[in-house]
Amino acid sequence: MDQLNIILPDDWHLHLRDNESLATTVPAATRGFGRGIVMPNLNPPVTTVAAAKAYYDRIISYRPEGSDWEPLMVLYLTDNTTTDEIRAAAESGFIHGCKYYPAGATTNSDSGVTDLANIYDVLETMQEVGMTLQLHGEVTDCDIDIFDREAVFIERYLKQMVKSFPNLRVILEHITTQQAVDFVIAGNENIAATITPQHLLYNRNHMLVGGIRPHLFCLPVLKRDIHQKALIEAAVSGNKKFFLGTDSAPHTKESKESCCGCAGCFSHPAAVELYAEVFDQAGALDNFEAFASINGADFYGLPYNKTKITLNKESWTIPESLPFGDSKIVPLAAGNNIKWKLEN
Ligand code: NCD
Ligand code: ZN
Repeated sequence: MDQLNIILPDDWHLHLRDNESLATTVPAATRGFGRGIVMPNLNPPVTTVAAAKAYYDRIISYRPEGSDWEPLMVLYLTDNTTTDEIRAAAESGFIHGCKYYPAGATTNSDSGVTDLANIYDVLETMQEVGMTLQLHGEVTDCDIDIFDREAVFIERYLKQMVKSFPNLRVILEHITTQQAVDFVIAGNENIAATITPQHLLYNRNHMLVGGIRPHLFCLPVLKRDIHQKALIEAAVSGNKKFFLGTDSAPHTKESKESCCGCAGCFSHPAAVELYAEVFDQAGALDNFEAFASINGADFYGLPYNKTKITLNKESWTIPESLPFGDSKIVPLAAGNNIKWKLEN
């Protein structure tokens, strides 16, 4: 197959940052996507409907002329989120989920929830009003090994949570393990997961053998190859519970190439193509449209995009870096030759 024609995909998990960063991140997010679920981990985080509306307006002001790309906003849950705020979010029409960050789990998560028990009333209200919960599914206990944090979160918290709230719509974001795949498959129809390009393309050997590659460091951290294989199998299977979420997360070159480098991979410059390569290598291009353009929209109860995109089998090289304000940003798979290319 030399050409792919599919419904315009959506990105169900991404980071845009704020203010002047939006000049780079918003146009990048529109490339090959109709909509994007915009994570709320700003500093300070987006915790209210009013803050989400103001952020939405700032994002739209950077949308390229003629683009219909739509930011889908998310509230950041804290220990102090009120059930009134959840009800207001559900009525807003532009907020499509609430994000649970365990406090301290990842970039800008310090205001996250310190104990799931603190938000049980909020989860009950979300279940009642049909608001989706997006989960960063990792424990933060210092005695739990970083490679085990997702699996332990599932065992300790998630299994009980989905029993307590069987009608709550839950997305386990950026899954990284066989345990997460198994949990999502075994769950009811209200449980789904997003999968990033980096977790499909790489395992921890790529990040650590022969030297540390800071641009592959993201959270949850890359796991061993058996987990990578389980993720590929889930993504290409056509199962409706798995869909595209890049977790594209821009950080400057200096903040990644540092003695304490930031977590996050900026994949938007070639995101659709990187996923296409995974499906191609697995001999599963027939299921690419379901993963990229259908399953997520179905889970969120949104219509499919009306336009289509074309990908051609055409070799090109992902740029080594891109300008980012006064600095630079190194995209995922920078300098790599890639076989699929999005037609303009
Ligand atoms: C994300 C970021 O930089 O905002 N980083 C990451 O490693 N994925 C936060 C997140 O999604 O965990
Ligand atoms: Zn993220």
